[in-house]
Amino acid sequence: MGVIDICNPSLFFIKSNGNRHQSLVSFEGKQRTVISMASTMPLEHVNQYEPKLKGDSFIRPHLRKLSPYQPILPFEVLSAQLGRKPEDIVKIDANENPYGPPPEVNEALGSLKFPYIYPDPETRQLRAALAQDSGLESDYILVGCGADELVDLVMRCVLDPGDKIVDCPPTFSMYEFDAAVNGALVIKVPRNPDFSLNVDAIIDAVEQEKPKCIFLTCPNNPDGSIINDEELLKILALPILVVLDEAYIEFSGVESRMKWVKKHENLIVLRTFSKRAGLAGLRVGYGAFPLSIIEFIWRVKQPYNVSVAAEVAACAALRNPAYLEMVKGALLQERKRLFKLLEEVPFLSPYPSHSNFILCKVESGLDAKKLKEDLAKMGVIVRHYNSKELKSYIRVSVGKPEHTDALIKCLKCFA
Ligand SMILES: Cc1ncc(COP(=O)(O)O)c(C=O)c1O
Repeated sequence: MGVIDICNPSLFFIKSNGNRHQSLVSFEGKQRTVISMASTMPLEHVNQYEPKLKGDSFIRPHLRKLSPYQPILPFEVLSAQLGRKPEDIVKIDANENPYGPPPEVNEALGSLKFPYIYPDPETRQLRAALAQDSGLESDYILVGCGADELVDLVMRCVLDPGDKIVDCPPTFSMYEFDAAVNGALVIKVPRNPDFSLNVDAIIDAVEQEKPKCIFLTCPNNPDGSIINDEELLKILALPILVVLDEAYIEFSGVESRMKWVKKHENLIVLRTFSKRAGLAGLRVGYGAFPLSIIEFIWRVKQPYNVSVAAEVAACAALRNPAYLEMVKGALLQERKRLFKLLEEVPFLSPYPSHSNFILCKVESGLDAKKLKEDLAKMGVIVRHYNSKELKSYIRVSVGKPEHTDALIKCLKCFA
């Protein structure tokens, strides 16, 4: 507490221990009587005398236990770590499309008319283009900042803390991660040894645990297996929301199930421009939803979740379907060649894949983690997982022919 000395009608001062501290408050006009309860301690000393309150005490309890997502490293960081130029690194760890987008994308990005105006919250142009591309009306389609955002949005709309989801590992780890962020519990129904879904176990889990939704991936990441119609229909018949992630569907030879959302009130289908159109860096994903669900996704999403650049780029990519087909063809051809060459490596057993990556079991006593680290030192970056079920595997993305050649040359050093 201090003594207030109103010595000037326009300013007042607080005296403490003979020092004068100028107040930020100014009094214009008449003198007033002021009772001050304010501390006169200089601000910089205040915290010394208060009990220490740690910042993390503000964090929601379930998030304090959250393990961070294990992201891949971007080119610049890899380049610094490995002491190699980005051009000299063969990055086949994140299933990116090494051909990048069609030339129309760079042209469109170079001539953005209104980057200073907020983007269209309804991404009308892109949804119209996607309706043409998919054959599903745009009312059923919503665009997100990558399919990743849509996974999170679905969970935010559907799950209360303590609700359950079904996850079928090994699979894309974002489902488990987002469930943890949203305070949901994960019921794991492991895949069969050949990575196919264990549909009977899923049916049992739904009966016993009463989960709200299940995340299915077709083709599955990391092995590239697909889900057939019969399996999917069995799961759709259960009282559960089915989120079908088709991030890699273009490489599978299986037709997208986007249009199924008109018939199945409990189906959501997610897709992305990251793989098919080489736009992983611009973050554009999209989803097909039943009308009774999409309404709530619209309400929950951030208004400007898709940037002007992202929408323009995705529209430009769809204007060149011939390029997208050509790139897909090149990757499928390369997948075939890569698979054959991996089969010839004595310590690897590759799994047939319907996607733009190939999972390989590392055998003959070789340690998969060490193999990944040794390859990285040679400038070839592949994916390895810390999880129990995948620790003896590596996953390699299908790249350009020269990427395959570099990988195989390095692998020969370990034979
Ligand atoms: C199965 C699966 N779904 C979704 C994504 C993420 O897609 P996006 O880049 O659109 O967020 C990935 C990325 O690797 C994936 O493997």
